[in-house]
Amino acid sequence: MQTRVGSVGSVGSLDEGKDPVVTTRTSQSRTLPLRVLQLFGLFLALCIAFSIISIYTIRRFGIYSVVTTVKSNFVPCVEEPNSLDHWRKPPSNLLHSMSDKELLWRASFVPQIEKYPFNRLPKIAFMFLTKGPLPLSPLWERFLKGHEGLYSVYIHSLPSFNAEFPPSSVFYRRQIPSQVSEWGKMSMCDAERRLLANALLDISNEWFILLSESCIPLYNFSVIYHYIKKSKYSFIGAFDDPGPFGRGRYNENMAPEVNVTQWRKGSQWFEINRKLAVNIVEDITYYPKFEQFCRPACYVDEHYFPTMLTIQAPNLLANRSITWVDWSRGGAHPATFGRADITEEFFKRLFEGHQCRYNDQLSSICFLFARKFAPSALEPLLQVAPRVLGF
Ligand SMILES: *[C@@H]1O[C@H](CO)[C@@H](O)[C@H](O)[C@H]1NC(C)=O
Ligand SMILES: *[C@@H]1O[C@H](CO)[C@@H](O)[C@H](O)[C@H]1NC(C)=O
Ligand SMILES: *[C@@H]1O[C@H](CO)[C@@H](O)[C@H](O)[C@H]1NC(C)=O
Repeated sequence: MQTRVGSVGSVGSLDEGKDPVVTTRTSQSRTLPLRVLQLFGLFLALCIAFSIISIYTIRRFGIYSVVTTVKSNFVPCVEEPNSLDHWRKPPSNLLHSMSDKELLWRASFVPQIEKYPFNRLPKIAFMFLTKGPLPLSPLWERFLKGHEGLYSVYIHSLPSFNAEFPPSSVFYRRQIPSQVSEWGKMSMCDAERRLLANALLDISNEWFILLSESCIPLYNFSVIYHYIKKSKYSFIGAFDDPGPFGRGRYNENMAPEVNVTQWRKGSQWFEINRKLAVNIVEDITYYPKFEQFCRPACYVDEHYFPTMLTIQAPNLLANRSITWVDWSRGGAHPATFGRADITEEFFKRLFEGHQCRYNDQLSSICFLFARKFAPSALEPLLQVAPRVLGF
């Protein structure tokens, strides 16, 4: 200690360890302590003065200027509540502690100025509603590769399921806080609303696509992105079925909020834009009616969103789904395709012979996704994808 202080006082060298003063210490032993003490006192006074000034500055002008600059040097991913980044960037961690009620409330926030004050690249949110694993994930990985910044991925699975994707995967840490959901019950719509709400927290997500673990994309990313971006309408199935499985499921108790002429049916696999997603998460008008009066054999996931969106925003709906399924084999469930089904012939049949409306014009490109595909279909799918699906 003495040698170090002494060296500063006498030679001004801060070079520790190799101190030339050590040898001459004895000759200066009388004058040194006093000088050292003086210097030490001065140093102490300066420290105290600096501390007082700092504390005063922080209190007076806010902590941010001093504290967060220091902090941000060491912790680069700290959220800055007072910069726009907090609103502009997606949450860094999907695992939040909000209840559904809190989440839906938070997700219902909508800016009142339409033009974004930053360069916003609109993204597609791919929302996977699954029980557990995603057996076709390698196909999706290939589909999404190279399009970072134009998509986000969300997974809702059984809460007990723990996904193990490597950090390089597009599915890594994309699970949202989930709850058990059952087909045909309101818990299924709750899961879909949970997916939408989590995806809405990223302000750049503009289109929201609900998918299952058995879905595959039918075109490459660029084709799908442009098809959706250029569409005037959102793709959700909504038709008026006069039969027992359509209007037959309507319950008079839903009036006056829902009238039988407004009752719609459609597959649950939708693509909707941000506005419709907000309509769904903020809904407190129709939800209680469907919850109470649409129970099996009224399958609420086939009616709730198509009906409420038809009432609230009929002009934004294409009234058709972009997810292809095969009901031709009959029965209560659509056909599932496995290893033996996946041939170029199969896709030729799948792509041919459709006609639909796209932006009020006739089009032969009607489906962007297809289901259902078994895990055994993965290998042949990966093989035919470059030639048949374009990726
Ligand atoms: C249902 O709505 C239609 C159109 O809004 C109306 O003409 C009809 O009278 C209503 N029906 C009932 C039962 O309220
Ligand atoms: C979808 O159906 C609604 C009424 O249910 C209608 O107003 C709307 O024009 C339809 N959309 C298209 C693209 O035809
Ligand atoms: C995507 O598919 C389209 C049509 O098949 C093709 O023209 C285009 O080159 C493909 N894009 C990429 C990036 O492979």
